[in-house]
Amino acid sequence: MVNVGILGLGGISQAHVSGWLNTKEARVVAVCDIRPQQLTRPVEQTGATAYTDFDTMMAKEKLDILDICLPTYLHSEYAVKAMDKGCHVLCEKPAGLTLSDLTQEYEAARRNGVHFMIAQVLRFWPEYLALKDIVAKGTLGRVLSGHMSRLSGIPVWSWDNWMKDKGRSGLVPFDLHIHDIDFMVSVFGAPKTVKSRRASSQGQDAVHALYEYDGFFITCDSAWYNCDYPFAASFRFQFEKGVVEYAGGTLHVYEEDGTSRVITPGIENGEAHKNGLGLPSSSGYENEIKYFVHCVLENQPTSRVPEEELKTVLSILRQL
Ligand SMILES: NC(=O)c1ccc[n+]([C@@H]2O[C@H](COP(=O)([O-])OP(=O)(O)OC[C@H]3O[C@@H](n4cnc5c(N)ncnc54)[C@H](O)[C@@H]3O)[C@@H](O)[C@H]2O)c1
Repeated sequence: MVNVGILGLGGISQAHVSGWLNTKEARVVAVCDIRPQQLTRPVEQTGATAYTDFDTMMAKEKLDILDICLPTYLHSEYAVKAMDKGCHVLCEKPAGLTLSDLTQEYEAARRNGVHFMIAQVLRFWPEYLALKDIVAKGTLGRVLSGHMSRLSGIPVWSWDNWMKDKGRSGLVPFDLHIHDIDFMVSVFGAPKTVKSRRASSQGQDAVHALYEYDGFFITCDSAWYNCDYPFAASFRFQFEKGVVEYAGGTLHVYEEDGTSRVITPGIENGEAHKNGLGLPSSSGYENEIKYFVHCVLENQPTSRVPEEELKTVLSILRQL
């Protein structure tokens, strides 16, 4: 059994709390947020002790794992502090805003002999894994082109409006676009070339990018629009023998013989569940948590989220 603390109980944390509650090898013993009102619900759900100060929590609790759901600009600082106290750390994406943030995190993990993983959830999201499987097995032949999209209204929920502040969030590249290019890099490696255009005005931020590989290309668009635009994540990949499309939470395969089918990917562990941000319900968050716990308990490297691939992703994001 591992004892877990969660740091930062804002928007995304509800998906993590649900994931931890469904992980039988773990119990959430502490939750910490500088806003006490954020702690009421997670304390009711988990029975954890509530803290409003990180140092007090670390002094009073013996945590095996710290799960960091803080604003992006605080990830590296708190991940390093926790690892220097001997905790394994699971941290929400992104690793940080600079390569130096990432390097410091992995150096702290090595220095302290602990596990560290960035929660890049699409690497654990059943429909994205189904696409990865079709690519790897060549079921529909070679990839000819791909398109990935991630759209929403300008985030209005974030604490202190940190999300709208470029210096603290990195805006759309580090909030939305990162998901798709992290998945792209995990399946296809680093692209040969990157071309992009950005449209930003009064809080709106849209990125359109073209990533070229040998023999195919992938376009991605990610945006915060200045209206109540419903969150939508999708992809469409063209293969020699068909098209694979994920939209509205459903994965379709259209084959060259005119047939089409809906794929319901096997859920790795447990049931899909809802989260606090109106994102599609998925077992992705639970899968990443269970994988991290498995790596900690079995002392296995967190090889599904390799440091080198995170570096590639960060260096692309910094060009956009
Ligand atoms: N994987 C995903 O699908 C996904 C979705 C949304 C957000 N995220 C990531 O999760 C992170 C958090 O995003 P969010 O939307 O939950 O933000 P949020 O602003 O809603 O939540 C952050 C919380 O941290 C608390 N906080 C701030 N400073 C603190 C400190 N020093 N000590 C303790 N608590 C502190 C705030 O009070 C707030 O409750 C971001 O890095 C974001 O990129 C990931």
